[in-house]
Amino acid sequence: SSLEKGKITWESPSNIALVKYWGKKENQIPANPSISFTLSNCKTTTTLHYTKLEVPSKEYQFSVFLEGEQKDDFKPKINTFFKRIEQYVPFIKEYAYKIETSNSFPHSSGIASSASGMSALALCIMSMEKELNPNLTQEEFIKKASFLARLGSGSACRSLEGDLVCWGAHKEITGSSDLFGVKYPFEVHSNFKNYQDTILLVDKGEKQVSSTVGHNLMHNHPYADNRFNQAHDNLSKLIHVFKSGDLKAFIEIVESEALTLHAMMMTSLPYFILMKPNTLEIINKIWAFRQQTGLHLCFTLDAGANVHLLYPEVEKEEVLAFINSELVGYCQNEHYICDTVGFGAQLI
Ligand code: PMV
Repeated sequence: SSLEKGKITWESPSNIALVKYWGKKENQIPANPSISFTLSNCKTTTTLHYTKLEVPSKEYQFSVFLEGEQKDDFKPKINTFFKRIEQYVPFIKEYAYKIETSNSFPHSSGIASSASGMSALALCIMSMEKELNPNLTQEEFIKKASFLARLGSGSACRSLEGDLVCWGAHKEITGSSDLFGVKYPFEVHSNFKNYQDTILLVDKGEKQVSSTVGHNLMHNHPYADNRFNQAHDNLSKLIHVFKSGDLKAFIEIVESEALTLHAMMMTSLPYFILMKPNTLEIINKIWAFRQQTGLHLCFTLDAGANVHLLYPEVEKEEVLAFINSELVGYCQNEHYICDTVGFGAQLI
């Protein structure tokens, strides 16, 4: 079929890494494998309007709107994305686009929208591909969408499915690849069902270090090789943890991964401290809370000051009471977001 004019809408969630991707090679190939929980409430909705051009254009023709407002500062990143994916979806230069996007989480909350945003856009483009090539199977569709999303933002390739997604070749994980994310293929204990992620917004400012700059810090980093090996080992350990339901072992791996990510930034040149005093206050409170209660609340961090609190659904009541009495004071404007593990992107 020939595609003249139309629109497609996809909704795609964010994700939170348990074993972190930090460091990459050429063409968005990760230096180590990673695994994440797909989220549910934190998501991006993107509508791609397309109109076939009379003559294919040299430059990509598109405009971008965020929450209804034209956003020219998003264009360079999307232009780079189009350039990287063109060889895999050559039809893209035959169209002009209007990209309308909105996030469920507040603008400038410090929550990265690159994973949800790039995966939503990649899925919209794949829906065009599917119109042009109806024989594409569902499996091929998702795999290629994840492949394209990776070229937009590495971690975006882990946002299409749920509830656990691996990205990066790992010897024990069947089907794992550096090129796209795959659903975690093994048994997961019921302790991890509906796991909760409450995001404490410690610092809503612009990221101090973009992830592009951050990944590059791992080139010639004195601890790079040890770190990459450790990520492989931690992923191996997690396979056993997911099977057994050992929450203590889970906490140890997840918190160590978060602190190691930040340790890599503190020990690179140039060096950065991305935690804020309140990040540390929260971490210490979590450790004390765990000691006092024996509950299974733990934290993880992205490349910033905000804290993700991970805990089992059965402990929700006690943890929320603790957050409201002891942790909200460390959040900007007492702001936090409750999320849970989710099941991936949806065509609207
Ligand atoms: O996808 P990027 O290039 O924005 O990198 C994300 C890096 C971390 O969020 C720090 C870790 C991860 O695996 O998501």
